[in-house]
Order: sequence, then C-alpha cells, then structure tokens
Amino acid sequence: MEINLELVPKERRKPKPDPKTLGFGRYFTDHMFIMDYDRDRGWHNPRICPYQPLVLDPAAIVLHYAQTIFEGLKAYLGVDGRVRLFRPKDNMARMNRSARRMVMPEINETFALEALIELVRLEREWIPSERGASLYIRPTMIGTQATLGVKPSCSYYYYVILSPVGAYYAEGFNPVKIYVTDRYVRAVPGGVGDVKTGGNYAASLMASEEAKAKGFTQVLWLDAKERRFVEEVGTMNIFFYFEDELVTPELTGSILPGITRDSVIKLARDWGIPVAERRISIEEVIEGIATGRLKECFGTGTAAVISPVGLLRYQDQEYVINGGQTGPLAQRLFNELTAYQYGEKEDPYGWIK
Ligand code: COI
Repeated sequence: MEINLELVPKERRKPKPDPKTLGFGRYFTDHMFIMDYDRDRGWHNPRICPYQPLVLDPAAIVLHYAQTIFEGLKAYLGVDGRVRLFRPKDNMARMNRSARRMVMPEINETFALEALIELVRLEREWIPSERGASLYIRPTMIGTQATLGVKPSCSYYYYVILSPVGAYYAEGFNPVKIYVTDRYVRAVPGGVGDVKTGGNYAASLMASEEAKAKGFTQVLWLDAKERRFVEEVGTMNIFFYFEDELVTPELTGSILPGITRDSVIKLARDWGIPVAERRISIEEVIEGIATGRLKECFGTGTAAVISPVGLLRYQDQEYVINGGQTGPLAQRLFNELTAYQYGEKEDPYGWIK
C-alpha cells in the first residue's frame, strides 16, 4: 500500500518543547499516521497527515464498549546521531495478539512497522537528545462503528502518534514507594489482563489514585482469586531478586507479556543469574525482606525501562527493600538496556532496529 503524505507547511509546525518540561505524553508532534478499515476494503487509505482530532460518531463502539488496543515503544537518538528503535517487531506482533483477543482486525506487521518508521523519520527533529529522553510511539486501534449493539465493530482506525518524553515517573530512576492492594485487582483469569487494551488501564485508576493519595507512587497487584500471588506493579511487570535467583511472575494469562520483561530475563540469564518465571506470593516477598534474602525489587516497562522499588506497604506495615536504594542489578540492567538504546554499546541480541 502506498502511504499518502499530507504535510504541515514548515512555517506552521509547532515549536519543540523545552526538554526540561517534557514529562510523559504531554506534547505531540506535527504529524500522525492513520489508516481505515471496513469489511469490504480491509485496511485502506494509509496516510501521514497533520496531527488532528479524530472524527468519531458519538455512538462509536470504542466510546461505549472499549474496543481499543494500543502499543508503546520508543525512538532514541543515539550519541552517534542515529535513531534507534528497541524490538519494534515485538510490539507489532503483540498488537496483533491484542487485536485477536479483542476481536479486531489484524494489521500487516511489516507494513505497519514501515509506516511507523516513515513517520518517525519525518518527525526526527522531535526526538529529544537528552539522555533518558526519547520519542514515545503510540500505535492505537479503535472500533469506530456507530451502533449501541454489543458486538465487534465492522470499521476501525489504526493510527500512530508520537510524543517526546522524559522520565515516566517523577522519581526518574530513583526507587518508588509501592502500596500492595488486596482490595482491588487489575485482571482476572480468563480476562484481558494479558493484552494491551484500554479497559485494563481504566480498571486500575481507582486503586492507583487511592495509593497516590496515601503518598505512594503506584500499587502492587495481587491475583484476583486468592489475593496472594504477585502479578504486576502499576503498569509494569515486576521482578524480585533473591540471593539465589531472579523471580518474575509467570505469564498465567492475567499478566502482560512485557518486552522489557523478556529482555531482562534474557540479559540476566546471559549474566549467569538463574531466572525463574513462577508464582510468587506476597508472603514470600515479605519474608524475603524480613530475612534479608530479598536483595532487590524492580518494575520493568517501556516507559520507565527499570523502576526500582524501595518500599512496600502491605496491610498497614511498611517494608524497606535494599535500604530504600537502587540495587546493583537494577542499575546494571538499566545501564545495559539504555546503552543499547542510545547506541553506546553494541547490541548482541538484534534488539535494535
Ligand atoms: C509501560 O510501562 O511502558 C506502560 O505500559 C506504561 C504506559 C501505559 C504509559
């Protein structure tokens, strides 16, 4: 498919934000990619056009029944001036996995990646050069059919928008304080917790707002059935580094298969650290902290890369991990991944595109 180009005239392009004010997802670039789907034509009319509001019928399915999926990845400007993407094919593959689960049409992964790259090339000047900053890429698909019937939409938009970003959490790479909730759950067995669909994030808001009001950065989610086994931390996967192994919850169907999660598992194994993907109870975590067997805890995700956890609050007790400091493994993983991303170190895994 030929991508139609409709460019914003140079003099009408937006000024670039001050890198110090970036935050996460506050600014958007001049252009976006979008294509349409209907049953007769399939995906059609791919175009790069000025960043603009979408035209949606107030009855559009996405607005009522949340038929929506998305992805998140980043473009990094390297020390050598080259732009790098981290495992973008994996994001495209996960987009289609999410599409299947939400009964949405799949996209051609090769074409969608080419379109994304063309958009990033066009918006190259928007990629911040500061270490830790990047251009966040948000591919999104929504059901657009105007009907109040509960069924899969017969028409869709797939679009990609770009946002120059700094650190995801205000803490940056410093340890965050986490509230363990046994009141709310993020996902249930047989549900959609293992795909990137908007409803999962809507469902998480109340717990995270309550945690924030109590002075915590995010919540730690436990499993829905027993409220006992650890699932995720905020919007990220979670890892526990015990004396003899690195543990992360196994992908049981209610946990998102994170790309950073997968990268951390591979790196740690190659460094000779035994990694277990298994169920881990909150009691085991607490006991690990009490006995000193638990050395570190951190979240992994595209937005923050690695986010060390310095403190857990569980049932009115606070537990400090590693003296509330960033541990050496979290630091090493962060350094390694970001060195590949910013082109300071050769990536032996073929993750960089
Ligand atoms: C990530 O950690 O990359 C996320 O999933 C956060 C995103 C929803 C903003």
